[in-house]
Amino acid sequence: MPARERALALRAEIEEHNHRYYVLDAPLLSDAEYDCLFRELQALEAAHPELVSADSPTQRVGAAPLPEFAAVVHATPMLSLNNAFDDAEVTAFDRRVGEGLAIHGDLDYSAEPKFDGLAVSLTYQNGILLRGATRGDGATGEDVTANLRTLRSIPLHLQGSGWPTLLEVRGEVLLWRSDFERLNSQQREKGEKAFVNPRNAAAGSLRQLDPRITATRPLRFFAYGIGLAAGTSLPATHSALLDRLAEWGFPVAPERRRVKGLAGLLGYYAHIGGQRALLPYDIDGVVYKLDDLAAQEHLGFASRAPRFAIAHKFPAEEALTELLGISIQVGRTGALTPVARLVPVFVGGVTVSNATLHNEEEVRRKDLRIGDTVVVRRAGDVIPEIVRVQWEKRPTGAPEFNMPTSCPVCASKVVRNTDEAVARCSGGIYCPAQRKQALLHFASRRAMDIEGLGEKLVEQLVDSDIVRTPADLYRLGLLALANLERMADKSASNLLSAIEQSKQTTLARFIYALGIRNVGETTARDLARHFGNLDRLLAADEADLLRVPDVGPIVARSIRQFSGEPHNLEVIEQLRAAGVVWRDVEVLASTASNNTGKVFVLTGALPTLTREAATQMIEAAGGKVSSSVSKKTDFVVAGAEAGSKLEKARSLGVTVIDEAQLLGLLSVAQPVQ
Ligand code: IVH
Repeated sequence: MPARERALALRAEIEEHNHRYYVLDAPLLSDAEYDCLFRELQALEAAHPELVSADSPTQRVGAAPLPEFAAVVHATPMLSLNNAFDDAEVTAFDRRVGEGLAIHGDLDYSAEPKFDGLAVSLTYQNGILLRGATRGDGATGEDVTANLRTLRSIPLHLQGSGWPTLLEVRGEVLLWRSDFERLNSQQREKGEKAFVNPRNAAAGSLRQLDPRITATRPLRFFAYGIGLAAGTSLPATHSALLDRLAEWGFPVAPERRRVKGLAGLLGYYAHIGGQRALLPYDIDGVVYKLDDLAAQEHLGFASRAPRFAIAHKFPAEEALTELLGISIQVGRTGALTPVARLVPVFVGGVTVSNATLHNEEEVRRKDLRIGDTVVVRRAGDVIPEIVRVQWEKRPTGAPEFNMPTSCPVCASKVVRNTDEAVARCSGGIYCPAQRKQALLHFASRRAMDIEGLGEKLVEQLVDSDIVRTPADLYRLGLLALANLERMADKSASNLLSAIEQSKQTTLARFIYALGIRNVGETTARDLARHFGNLDRLLAADEADLLRVPDVGPIVARSIRQFSGEPHNLEVIEQLRAAGVVWRDVEVLASTASNNTGKVFVLTGALPTLTREAATQMIEAAGGKVSSSVSKKTDFVVAGAEAGSKLEKARSLGVTVIDEAQLLGLLSVAQPVQ
C-alpha cells in the first residue's frame, strides 16, 4: 500500500481507537496493540515528512513551549450559571421559566452533572480543530490550542456529517480522581508539589506553557453545549444537540437525562446525588437546561447568566476545627478585615487554615471567641467560611473580639463611615499595607500582569522604601533588586523583563490596574470601551460617568474621587513617561463624543460566518451593526453576491472589507488582552 494511503488508514484507525477508549469507554485493543499502530504511523511520518498533517494523532503529543498564551476573544461570551441551593430555589426557577414562556404544565429539561473542572471552548472550522481557549474572564480567554490538542478525548477532526462550517463547542476539562491520585504520587516521587484537588491539577496541567507537560497529564473533556454554529441548522432541543455532539465524536455525560417538570428535576438531583461518590470524576451539583432551544433563545440572558438554565449545587462540605486567633488584614483600600486563624482542617477538597470574617459585625453576629470550636464550610471555588460556633464547647472566660482603634500596620487612626460595615485605616498610601496591596493589584495577572512580582518581593520593596508607587517599578534596576534578600540574578533580570513587557497593555487593563475603588475588571472594560481613551475618562464629570452602562452613583463617585486626587494623576503621568502605553485604538470602540462604536453593515454571504455570528462578534468587541449604508457607516463587510449595499458603500467612499479582514480587525479590537 502506498505510504500516503497507509498513513491515512492508520490515522483513521488510531483516532477510532482513541474515541473508543476515551469517549465511549469501550476499548477494543490492548495498550500494546494500540502502541504498535501508533509507532507504525510515527515511523511512516518520519520517513515521509510531507505526509505529516496537523490533525494526525502523532501531533497530539506536544508542540514546542510557548513564551506566553495569546488572548482569545470569545465569539460569544462564556457566561456562568445562577445557582440554586435548595428545592425552593429550583421551584422558583421552574416557575420563572414557565411564566416567561407563558406555558402551564410540565416543561422538558435536559439535566446533566455539573462537572467540577474548568471550562474551555473549542473552535472547529470545516470540521478541523482550529483553536481551543480557556474561559478566562468570560469575554477573553487564553489560547491553549496546543495543550488541548494533547487530550485524546478531543477530536482533532469531527466525525460523521452535517457539522457546521464554524462550530464552537463548550465543555469542561477535568481529571478523573484515580488519575489525580496517580499524578500526585508521581509529583511526590519527583519531589514536586502535590496538587490540592483534581480541579486545580487539571487547571495547572492545561495552563502549561509547555504542551509536552500537558501531554503527560491524563486530562479528559466533556462537551456540554455550543457557543456558535454557522452554516447548518441545529437540532431543536439541547438534548438532541448533545446527541449530535456525541455523533461528531465528543464525549458527553452518559448521566444526562431528559426530565419533565419540577418533579423530574428534583428526582434527577436525588438520583445523581446518590451516584456522586461512584462517578470517576468530581461534580459539585447538577445543571438543568430548558430543552427547547427556541424557547431558550426567547428567555435569553439576565446580566451574566442565562434565564433558561440553573445549577443546583450540592451542599457544601463542613468540618469542625478550632479558632486559634483573629488577625487583622489591611487591604488595598485600607479596609481592615478580621481573619480567623484555624487549626488546619481538610474540607471541600483543600486544607483550610484561614477564613475571612469580613467585618466586625460579622464576628459579633457569630459571637466568635478565641478557643471556640467552629464549623467551617467550603464549596468549590468559594472561599472558606465559618458557619457557626459550637457553644457547648466554649472555654470559660474566652474574651470578646474588638476591632483595633489604630491600624496594626501603620498605627494611623481606624475610621468607620456610618453607612459602611467596613472599618478602614486612614493612612492612605502612607500605610505600607495599603501600598503593598495596591502594588500587588497593579502587577496582578488580569491587571498589568507582571510575572514574578509576588507578595514576598513587594514586601521587601516597600519595606526597604525602594518602591512607593507603581511608577517606581519602572525605575527599578538590576542593582536595587540584586541587593534584596533571596534574589538570584536570573530572577532579577526575569522580573525586569516582565516589568518591561508590561508596558504594552490595554486601556481596560490599565484602568483596572489603577485600583480605583469599586472599579473591577468588568467596569474597567466598560469604561475603556465607552471613553476610548484615558484622558476623557479622567476628565469625565459625574453626569458623563453615569452615561456608561452599568455605572451607578457609587462607582461614579469613586472614579471622581480618584481623578480628583492630584497624587493619582501624578502617578499616571509618571507611568506614561516611563513608557506604559495601551492600544488606545480600540478600533471598534467609541471614538467620538456620541459614544457609539464603529458602525458595520453586513452584506452578501460571508464564507464561514453567519450574519448572526458576525453580528455577535462585532458587538462583543464594542462595535455596532446597522442594516443600511450611510455616510456614518465605518465598514461594509461584503461577502459573495453582495448587491446594492456594496455599490452604495463604494459611491459614498465607505471602507469595504471581507470576512478575513473583519476577523483581523476583531482580533486587534480586543477589549482586554
Ligand atoms: S452550561 C451559559 N453545563 O459551570 C452557561 N456548565 O457556572 C453555560 N459547568 O463555567 C454553562 N458542568 O464550566 C454547563 N453540564 C454543564 C456544566 C457546566 C460544569 C461549568 C461551566 C461554567 C460553570 C457555570
